[in-house]
Order: sequence, then structure tokens, then C-alpha cells
Amino acid sequence: MVVRQLRLLPDAVLRKKAKRVPAIDKSVHRLIDDMIETMQQANGVGLAAPQIGVLLRVVVLQMPEEEPVAIINPEIVKRSGEREVVEGCLSLPGYSGEIKRSNSVIVKGLDRQGKAIRIRATGLRAQALEHELDHLRGSLYIDHLESEDKLHQIEPETDNRGM
Ligand code: NI
Repeated sequence: MVVRQLRLLPDAVLRKKAKRVPAIDKSVHRLIDDMIETMQQANGVGLAAPQIGVLLRVVVLQMPEEEPVAIINPEIVKRSGEREVVEGCLSLPGYSGEIKRSNSVIVKGLDRQGKAIRIRATGLRAQALEHELDHLRGSLYIDHLESEDKLHQIEPETDNRGM
């Protein structure tokens, strides 16, 4: 496992659309392992492949006190409710924003073995899934800000929910 270079704004790769993974081979497993390593090194709770410069639909998540999870070709099949959250992104260190996210989501995709999975999520897990799936279409949380005063500068060390 290798820690890859995190792409930071305004890197253009963060604004590109990721492609579906056509086949789950060794290179995809290596990508997932490196993404997990990179996310953990950055104390993140999630990471999308474009954040390390790879335009493939792969995301990893790691909720506090849980094992990391990878989802290949994820899609949100249902969103419900709405809530205000504070959000940060590993590609935009030193900032956090107040935005609206769903209360819960259902995401389908494939696990690293290629098995179909369906994840029903609430709370931080739902927020991270929406955040990472946004990355796959070149969207960032700052696109959801209602105004500039909803974006705050923070000490990067205090951000333990980067994604
Ligand atoms: Ni992010």
C-alpha cells in the first residue's frame, strides 16, 4: 500500500467526471489499497479516486471505530430528508462549510470482490457517501454553499472529518 499524493483545489482533475470501472482486476485492488492508506494517513473518513488523480468510480469510507469499506461504481438510488451539516474536504484543507445534506441515502455498487452491495446510511456515513459521490462527477461541497459566509477557515489539525 502506498500513500498517494492528494490532489488539492484548484487541480483540474477534481472537476472532471470519473468513469465506471470496467473490470475489477489487480490494478483496481491496488488502487483501493492505496486509497485506504492515503485516507488513513490524512485522518479522513472518506476518499474518492479523483482526489488522487484517478478518474474511476471508486470510493473508500472509514467511519470512526470501523473498518474501511470500498465501493466500486457506486450510485445513489435513494435520498431522503434534509439536514444542516458541517463539512470538510481533504482536497480543500483549512476550510469547512455549512451545507445541506440528506438525512439518509441508499447506495448500490460493488465490493472489492465484485459482489453487488447495497448500503443504507444515515448520519456521517450518509454525508460522506454524498460527498464522495459528488467527487465522482467533479462536484465539491463548496458548490452547495448558499453564500460565502457559510465557508469558514479552520486549523487543518482540528479537521478530523475530512473526506
Ligand atoms: Ni472531498
